[in-house]
Amino acid sequence: MLSIEDISVFAKKKGFVYPTAEIYGGLAGFYDFGNLGVELKNNLKNELWKEFTRREDVIGLDGSIITHDNVWKASGHVESFEDFILECRKCHNKFRADLLIEDKLKINVEGIKKEDIDTIIKKNNIKCKCGGDFSEAQHFNLMFSTEVGPMSSYLSYLRPETAQLIFINFKLLMENNRMKLPFGVAQIGKAFRNEISPRDFLFRIREFEMFEIEYFVDPNKLKECPYIKDVLRLKLNVLTGEMQKDKKQHKEMTIEDMLKKKIGNPWQLYWLAMFYKFYLNFGIKKENLRLREHLKEELAHYASACFDIEYNFPFGWKEIHGNADRGKFDLTQHMKYSKTDLSVYNEETKERVIPYVASEPSQGIERAFLVFLYDAYNDDKKRGNIVLKLDPRLAPIKLAVFPLVNKLEKQSKRIYDELKTCFNCFYDKSGSIGRRYARQDEIGTPLCCTIDFQTLKDNTVTLRERDTTNQVRVKIKELKDKIWQYIYEEANFKDLGKAVKQ
Ligand code: GAP
Repeated sequence: MLSIEDISVFAKKKGFVYPTAEIYGGLAGFYDFGNLGVELKNNLKNELWKEFTRREDVIGLDGSIITHDNVWKASGHVESFEDFILECRKCHNKFRADLLIEDKLKINVEGIKKEDIDTIIKKNNIKCKCGGDFSEAQHFNLMFSTEVGPMSSYLSYLRPETAQLIFINFKLLMENNRMKLPFGVAQIGKAFRNEISPRDFLFRIREFEMFEIEYFVDPNKLKECPYIKDVLRLKLNVLTGEMQKDKKQHKEMTIEDMLKKKIGNPWQLYWLAMFYKFYLNFGIKKENLRLREHLKEELAHYASACFDIEYNFPFGWKEIHGNADRGKFDLTQHMKYSKTDLSVYNEETKERVIPYVASEPSQGIERAFLVFLYDAYNDDKKRGNIVLKLDPRLAPIKLAVFPLVNKLEKQSKRIYDELKTCFNCFYDKSGSIGRRYARQDEIGTPLCCTIDFQTLKDNTVTLRERDTTNQVRVKIKELKDKIWQYIYEEANFKDLGKAVKQ
């Protein structure tokens, strides 16, 4: 099985992701995105933005990364956004307590309390790698703090989630856009968490991006989700709280089944289904995805219910997307701390209400990036090279243009110059055509276009498809449209032109 280290080596070798500041020894939990990584990441963010904000009930926001410290006091992050540390009394290395217990005992202890950590460590005689004993578990707040202004007198924090910027701006956004409940606000941006044990490549890092939607609902209409009908038949692998308690495996259910069994509220299920579908539509294998309900003891301080979409990583099923029911917690807290009225007028009932955040889709961009890279990786023994089967919409380079021989450079460059205005293209004239195809397969380029001597006779070129290696001849004047249809409109490759016998 491809390990997470293998994928990190591959990502570095091919120009997707580099550990930051390697020439200075690196900095754990921070990564730089290379030329291909930045394209894949931008494509992913654009597709998410397109998919979930091009609708009349969702508007966007781009909030600041550092904001007033009261935001983080009100939200509860100053007090409770923490994990527990265990320090070795001998070598003084520090470890995240729950992950250490998980590693040693192979049990899930998310949300475990301090006293229980100390008991488990003692009872199971868990020691450090160096043989030393652990100190008692200590609280560790995960927010990065910073000082604002030249006199270094004002303490603030780098945001650990983008959500709070939505809560503090929601009323302005609602009024400016004359939105009515229910509606959502979406945001993509950086978040920072001083993780105790960053690990598993991009999975647990200290600086990452999030795509979050806070969906505001009339508290009197929590059960009325008009969109739920669009996803009722979607089949998902589901692991409910009950199933976890009974030590059962996940099983296939539809959203309709979940509603009937009263698992989750309709708004949460709707948005979870939409993101689950996003993963499937962009090529993730269905056996690698599942939905897991949080147990009560795992819930964050603001949530009354939560579900994760999980991916089957080589290091186990892990969260790639979360969706919490945050209720009125955040708006009520901000009303209390800011002394500002954040209630809104409901024209139907003629009363003021504090909107209810029934659903909060929260998607880490780097975790999605990792999943798409991992799932697309195919070691094609027959071809003798890696084939990265990324969805064409996500692929960093959409098309590579090759002159068969150097003599055809002028014609090839003309085609490349024309197409690069529309797609991210790559021009390559070095090595055999076979080598050039292999290089593009490895970085996920869905199409290659070769200009040969027949081009001079009939103004056609060869297009070659990455996943099948099939080839068709296409007229130069139709090339742009055909490529567009293939990349963005799911056109069948065989319909793009006349098949070439190989
Ligand atoms: N506003 C809700 C919230 O922050 P979360 O479950 O803590 O919820 C949401 O985070 C998502 O952010 C996760 O599902 C994951 O995709 C991503 N994420 C969280 N911590 C991360 C980390 N240390 N490294 C990479 N991604 C992370």
